[in-house]
Amino acid sequence: MTQSALIQGGSGGLGRALVNRILQSNQFDQVVVTGRDIQTFDSRDPRIIPIELDLLSDQSVVDASTAVASQIDRLNLVVTTAGILQDESLGLKPEKKLADLSRSNLQTVFSVNCFGPFLWYAALGRLIRHREPITIATLSARVASIGDNRLGGWHSYRASKTAQNMLTKNLSLELSRTNPHAIVVGLHPGTVDTDLSKPFQAGVDPDRLFTTEQSAGYLWDVLSELTPERTGEVIAWDGQTITP
Ligand SMILES: NC(=O)c1ccc[n+]([C@@H]2O[C@H](COP(=O)([O-])OP(=O)(O)OC[C@H]3O[C@@H](n4cnc5c(N)ncnc54)[C@H](OP(=O)(O)O)[C@@H]3O)[C@@H](O)[C@H]2O)c1
Repeated sequence: MTQSALIQGGSGGLGRALVNRILQSNQFDQVVVTGRDIQTFDSRDPRIIPIELDLLSDQSVVDASTAVASQIDRLNLVVTTAGILQDESLGLKPEKKLADLSRSNLQTVFSVNCFGPFLWYAALGRLIRHREPITIATLSARVASIGDNRLGGWHSYRASKTAQNMLTKNLSLELSRTNPHAIVVGLHPGTVDTDLSKPFQAGVDPDRLFTTEQSAGYLWDVLSELTPERTGEVIAWDGQTITP
């Protein structure tokens, strides 16, 4: 049976490395790769199906899901990498204190990190609602853990990923009612050298700062070993469960 994967965010740091790792595995006949600007990624591999998707646009979500459904019957692996921590053009920085909160920054960060991925899954409909094995993995972050939060700050990023983790759990429960093979997880990639982490790498032990290829390799190993018993969890790059 044809095996199909869908990677959202193929031109991001981790997204690009994950696409390469997934292609290298030779486990998928079709690999849909979405991006806000699909001109920016290398789609010479005949298995790649590039599709434009901006998770901040409802119309783009509808158009992209229709485009996937016109080429693919069902998905076996879905990975969503969208994430925003700061954006200079929007004056958006991770907040250090309560007084730094603004409605517009909260809305932007929640829209990309939490609303976007799950509205995307809703739009994928029958492509993810079937009875065959399927894994749906959304890139989360250890800083979303309430139990592990000792430093505070980064209010909108942390909270948006915590809310994302709740939707991961809810979707895992919903799919498990009709598909015992479905696995829905959040993944923490470690601290990875990408545009997202660049401004915050100063205090990071160089041995703990992964290249995108390293992290994608670890995440692929985690994905390859997942079983339905772990559905609903948030899992780190080393396979450990992260406390909610
Ligand atoms: N790097 C780390 O240390 C680290 C640690 C923990 C968790 N994470 C998580 O890992 C994921 C990947 O991050 P990264 O480090 O690879 O950062 P990155 O290189 O900045 O990639 C961010 C991704 O988010 C996408 N994105 C942003 N806004 C979007 C929108 N409106 N619609 C669709 N996609 C949008 C970007 O798409 P474009 O290419 O179109 O801009 C890009 O693919 C994120 O969810 C992040 O929170 C990263």
